[in-house]
Amino acid sequence: MSLVFVRDLHKVYHLGGKEVHVLKGVDLDIQRGETVAVVGPSGVGKSTLLHLIGALDHPTHGEITVDGVKLWGLSDLEMARLRANQIGFVFQFHHLLPEFTALENVMLAGLIRSGEGNPKARAIELLHRVGLSHRLDHKPGELSGGEQQRVALARALHNQPPLVLADEPTGNLDRDTALELQHLVFELASERALSFLIVTHDLKFAERCHRILRLQDGRVVETVTPEFNTKRLPLAP
Ligand SMILES: Nc1ncnc2c1ncn2[C@@H]1O[C@H](COP(=O)(O)OP(=O)(O)O)[C@@H](O)[C@H]1O
Ligand SMILES: [Mg+2]
Repeated sequence: MSLVFVRDLHKVYHLGGKEVHVLKGVDLDIQRGETVAVVGPSGVGKSTLLHLIGALDHPTHGEITVDGVKLWGLSDLEMARLRANQIGFVFQFHHLLPEFTALENVMLAGLIRSGEGNPKARAIELLHRVGLSHRLDHKPGELSGGEQQRVALARALHNQPPLVLADEPTGNLDRDTALELQHLVFELASERALSFLIVTHDLKFAERCHRILRLQDGRVVETVTPEFNTKRLPLAP
């Protein structure tokens, strides 16, 4: 079964008496270990789609299953539990807590969950993995933009979710720093059999994913270019 299964997903926002029909029947499947890019112009509904799959918001209509859990009809508490255990988030702006160190920011993610193992050891291991062993005690304001995003990535992985949702994770980084983050995403996806759903405006980033989905007119269209096919990365075992 697909890790993410979406059928006939609709989202209508109500704004000042007006209806904005953003998603009009989105279907998509993501397998375990797959990296999938979502592209499309600003305002087309990419963030909306991520919020719905990430159980941050309720759809107007449609079916979403994540890691065997049907999102339809879940209470807010059940949605929060799903978010804590099955899903990691990385946003364009890191959303780290400014008063806490890198290590604390990563560990805090684990407090919501009664997880197995040692949350501190896992946070240290992850920060080491993203190349920040020497920055454990730094607060976000004492880190570069690239380092902040690597802490955000480590935080997203702390609960060992099978799925990471990333909304323009390199949108705020310069070219070289963005490339470093991309490398990390693909390495982590492959070594931990993680699925990533990544919204990006960077076509080079999108082309390194297993698949590219284009959102247009409220629906998802799969785009495959010949060049892209040759760059396909093998699926994680
Ligand atoms: N909470 C909301 N209330 C009303 N309209 C919204 C809300 N969130 C997003 N929208 C509208 O939905 C559309 C899609 O937004 P979004 O998903 O953020 O697009 P994207 O991420 O592709 O730029 C936009 O027209 C936006 O103004
Ligand atoms: Mg957006």
